[in-house]
Amino acid sequence: MEKISFKKTYSPLNSEEIIAKQKAMMDQKRFEHCIGVSETSKKLARLNNYDEDKAALAGFIHDYAKQIPNEEFIKVIKEENFDPDLLNYNRAIWHGIVGTYFIKRDLKIEDEEILTAIYRHTTADSEMTTLDKIVFVADFIEPQRSFPGVEEARKVAFNNLDEGVGFELAHTLDFLVKNRQKIYPKTLKAYNKWAIKNN
Ligand SMILES: [Fe+2]
Ligand SMILES: [Fe+2]
Repeated sequence: MEKISFKKTYSPLNSEEIIAKQKAMMDQKRFEHCIGVSETSKKLARLNNYDEDKAALAGFIHDYAKQIPNEEFIKVIKEENFDPDLLNYNRAIWHGIVGTYFIKRDLKIEDEEILTAIYRHTTADSEMTTLDKIVFVADFIEPQRSFPGVEEARKVAFNNLDEGVGFELAHTLDFLVKNRQKIYPKTLKAYNKWAIKNN
């Protein structure tokens, strides 16, 4: 694993401080997943003419809030004017959308492009920027992922980022339907936008 560092942090904190804060928020397995997402984001950025260092940073911090307790998410949703409908979902959704609050508070990152990519990384959306797509897809295909179909997902995503988003959404919806799980409305909109094949 290459030593991770960021040239620009979009924060008054330096690269080492960001990395140390993130490490303190999660177990080693999650931390290594974040490094994998960071490296894959960088690769996708290179393939799509996007700022590699910015993508690497956004990919790294995408799961900053993943291990925050439910009660803390609920408190923040209620007190910080998040959509109350979020209370009908769970931490799988919260850690992205509400994660932006903790990233601003702890990592002092205010860059809208980075925050939006974190916000959308679990739900996706019908509107997605290049960075949104990079982090969303990198999270799905980073080297430690091993679900059936991951090789195909990598092939599709490295070949065409938009198709990578579509592939991932089809896979996610399939999983949610099979398990009779509730689908977040934006995810359904995203599926209709990115996953439908032109015929
Ligand atoms: Fe996540
Ligand atoms: Fe993740």
